[in-house]
Amino acid sequence: MGEVLEQFFIFVGLLVCLVHLVKWVRFSKCIFLHFWKVSPRSFLKSMGQWAVITGAGDGIGKAYSFELARQGLNVVLISRTPEKLQAIATEIEWTIGSSVKIIQADFTKDDIYEYIKEKLKDLEIGILVNNVGMLPNLLPRHFLNTPDDIQSLIHCNITSVVKMTQLILKHMESRRKGLILNISSGAALFPWPLYSTYSASKAFVCTFSKALQAEYKEKGIIIQVLTPYAVSTPMTKYLNTNMITKTAEEFVKESLNYVTIGDETCGCLAHEILTLMFLSIKGKHSEPDPVMGLLQQCVSEVAPDSLHGLPQAECQHHIVLVG
Ligand SMILES: NC(=O)c1ccc[n+]([C@@H]2O[C@H](COP(=O)([O-])OP(=O)(O)OC[C@H]3O[C@@H](n4cnc5c(N)ncnc54)[C@H](OP(=O)(O)O)[C@@H]3O)[C@@H](O)[C@H]2O)c1
Repeated sequence: MGEVLEQFFIFVGLLVCLVHLVKWVRFSKCIFLHFWKVSPRSFLKSMGQWAVITGAGDGIGKAYSFELARQGLNVVLISRTPEKLQAIATEIEWTIGSSVKIIQADFTKDDIYEYIKEKLKDLEIGILVNNVGMLPNLLPRHFLNTPDDIQSLIHCNITSVVKMTQLILKHMESRRKGLILNISSGAALFPWPLYSTYSASKAFVCTFSKALQAEYKEKGIIIQVLTPYAVSTPMTKYLNTNMITKTAEEFVKESLNYVTIGDETCGCLAHEILTLMFLSIKGKHSEPDPVMGLLQQCVSEVAPDSLHGLPQAECQHHIVLVG
């Protein structure tokens, strides 16, 4: 009996060591890449001549458009407001010299893909950034108090990722080369009360992305999902930046160093550390889940629906993580 117990404890000990080793390897990989960029500067350009970015008119999508152009790619900008797209196109062409195409499309609709397909015809697309997304409520709100138009959120956050991937992946497959970056959110890593539809739509992006990477890795395609927390953009009403809240430019520049790190990343070291902290709290206890407990406590303390109409500064501390 004593021997069995001893073996059991050895087994448990080894298991705990293994879990910590895996966490440590993931963390060190991120630190390593932070200081010693592994993918050479030419890597992104080697994927193909063109990069396609959805939701390119502002925020993170705009930052990807500029950065990928700086890395030597021509860019296709797809978004809602043509004036914003035209201004970005002109600036890229003048300051960087890359070619730019713009496509006006509203991703809350599902009848736009034939038009986009036609516009993308004959381009050698090496990179697709599925960035477009909408957050129905910036401030926390109960599900029944969120806008009725759930279909728009589903089209914009879910259908866009699937349909754009379907359009472009088949050409990448035949070239046996390509990079797809799917912008999910830290809100996908745990179920976030008061952001339920957004959080669930982003969890879809994570699962879809990781399953697809397993299918297409052997064919030379890199599919990576990014799960950032707060980034200062119009979506987050330009939250003040700090060690955690990045500017879109900082976030994009750093995240492009990590495209070969694996099928999922937060995109920046600060957010990676935050996730590890969440996971370690989650890992230590099993019942009740302390992360969910914390979230539920916040929900009851914040009295969410009363926040609406408060000045931005007073609301900032309520929106630390969700984006
Ligand atoms: N910001 C964050 O803290 C954060 C954190 C985690 C994940 N994310 C994710 O990152 C992505 C980009 O976020 P962001 O903060 O950069 O967003 P943003 O500031 O709201 O910018 C979004 C861009 O997408 C365009 N867009 C929005 N809805 C569209 C639609 N229905 N059809 C076509 N274009 C549309 C906007 O068009 P207009 O130019 O016409 O306005 C804008 O150019 C989203 O998927 C978001 O969920 C953001």
